[in-house]
Amino acid sequence: MLSLIEKAETGHELNREELLCLLSDASNLQEITAAADRVRHEYVGDEVHLRGLIEFSNICKNNCCYCGLRRDNTEIHRYRLDEDTIFKLAEYAVTQMGLKTIVLQSGEDMWFNSQRMCALIGRIKTLDAALTLSVGEKSAEEYLAYKQAGCDRFLLRIETTDKILYKRHDPGMSWKRRRECLNDIRRSGMEVGSGCLVGLPGQTLESLADDILFFKQINADMVGIGPFIPHPDTPLRNAEKGNFDLSLKVMALTRLLLPDINIPATTAMETLASNGQTKALQSGANVIMPNVTLNECRKYYELYPGKSVTNCSSDKSLAKLRAKISSIGRSVATDKGFRKRQNNLQIETLSVIMPSNKN
Ligand code: 5AD
Ligand code: SF4
Repeated sequence: MLSLIEKAETGHELNREELLCLLSDASNLQEITAAADRVRHEYVGDEVHLRGLIEFSNICKNNCCYCGLRRDNTEIHRYRLDEDTIFKLAEYAVTQMGLKTIVLQSGEDMWFNSQRMCALIGRIKTLDAALTLSVGEKSAEEYLAYKQAGCDRFLLRIETTDKILYKRHDPGMSWKRRRECLNDIRRSGMEVGSGCLVGLPGQTLESLADDILFFKQINADMVGIGPFIPHPDTPLRNAEKGNFDLSLKVMALTRLLLPDINIPATTAMETLASNGQTKALQSGANVIMPNVTLNECRKYYELYPGKSVTNCSSDKSLAKLRAKISSIGRSVATDKGFRKRQNNLQIETLSVIMPSNKN
């Protein structure tokens, strides 16, 4: 009998009970992250993709209880960058820093309607880079318009698959609607990114197992997982923060079940633990999203306090990041870093040829 970890490493399938069994035993962390590191090496290689993140507006119409950008937070200074500024940041990131993907992220800021967003997409796509948007819930038509304007990928975390928890922490929003958005993004032809928070108050290990199975079910192309970090100007100010090791484990298990996807070493991981991002890169992650936002705006994009920024907008910080990556035997990718889908048939065939791989 293969152990559950071996089973996940070779077959990339686990059921809910098996995931739960692995999640509830803290002593297996090292074994799981090492397996995820091997699977990462085998399927997506040793290259780390750098995605230049531009946080272009911190205005949000939503009121998520965990997030510092929530609409009821009056303590925060709100900003919105204009199209020229955003374009110049993107241009610098691509032409001067050599980044191959730009990620535009904002709160749900209604000023950026479909027309404005598409104009911005079209302009950025004149640069030789892939483009990812992370701007929240939109209509199917709008997602399609983004794709037609040239957008390649879209990030929309499900946050949690636990509908009761979602209702509690995302007042005024609907889990069903969010799920539909992910379908609409898929139908638009963009790559689909999702993800979850680990350590939301009231979250169970069962629901984390469901989150991992959810990513598999929607066949996400990218999954970002980060620990919850309480923000003092939100209703969850007194809640306990998420656990780093558990977040790392959820990420590693996601790599085991979705071997060929892109997984970022999230900023929240770096914020919660020293060297958190390096540990994540050694536990299944293969992407880093250095921040290329205007310096004067960064401090206002405070999803959570102490947000550790992987800086990249000076030659020196980029060199430092490169050095960090090579110090763990990895290199910076030179391509645009789309998901390199593995042929499912091949995996099927392998398990037929080697029946011992089946538990
Ligand atoms: N702690 C950690 N992550 C957070 N996010 C929002 N607020 C917090 C917090 N307090 C994450 C959400 C969102 C992403 C942009 O930031 O998962 O999808
Ligand atoms: Fe807005 Fe996103 Fe923050 Fe929710 S998590 S309040 S949608 S920025």
